[in-house]
Amino acid sequence: MTRAELYEMAKRLGIPGRSAMSKDQLVRAISKRWNDFGEPEAYVLSGLMPWEQEFYERFLKPDDEILIVGCGSGRDLIALLRAGYRVEGLEVAAQAATKARSMLAKAGLNARVTVGSIEDTSLVSKPFDVYIFSWFCYSYIPQAAARIDVLRKLRDHLLPGGRVLISYEPARTAPRLSCPPHGSRCGRPGALRCCCLSAGRTPDAA
Ligand SMILES: C[S@@+](CC[C@H](N)C(=O)[O-])C[C@H]1O[C@@H](n2cnc3c(N)ncnc32)[C@H](O)[C@@H]1O
Repeated sequence: MTRAELYEMAKRLGIPGRSAMSKDQLVRAISKRWNDFGEPEAYVLSGLMPWEQEFYERFLKPDDEILIVGCGSGRDLIALLRAGYRVEGLEVAAQAATKARSMLAKAGLNARVTVGSIEDTSLVSKPFDVYIFSWFCYSYIPQAAARIDVLRKLRDHLLPGGRVLISYEPARTAPRLSCPPHGSRCGRPGALRCCCLSAGRTPDAA
């Protein structure tokens, strides 16, 4: 979420322009921003984007148990289930999670979708082989210290040989990625970077 979007959201929530938001207010703002993202059914059923396909094929193994962080209305969750993986979703925006559940049912698929923020790792139901932060979701965790803290906590919830897959927009020198309209597909975002953190690595500079 850009700073401008956060200010806009703060305005809608009645929080004065440049005052500091509490953590709760921030979570509400983020949820509100994403609640209706990816509403159209055609979008939810549109499968993985080419860069995701490439990235996930490189780092996923057929028997992996996967948690998608930021599963939204279910697009990547459904695509990976259809590809045969064992997948669950975690999503901070309750309305988007409800949509994901109804799309799973429509598609005849079954997966747990939990509502909440990845910062609360008590919501992680069990250890996983892989945590996939859905596109840019890692960057939506406000503040570097909180992001690093999440990675540290997830390290303790990884099965042996486990991996954390993140995508992010590299800071500032690259041209900013302009987001496609809600529900439309992003072809190959020029500024996107992906990386896989494996279980032994200390997350010190993410
Ligand atoms: C770009 S959207 C992707 C949604 C869906 N995976 C898709 O591809 O259509 C990123 C998602 O991450 C969710 N999100 C942001 N911060 C989160 C957090 N801390 N914990 C869990 N989900 C989060 C947002 O609510 C949003 O649904």
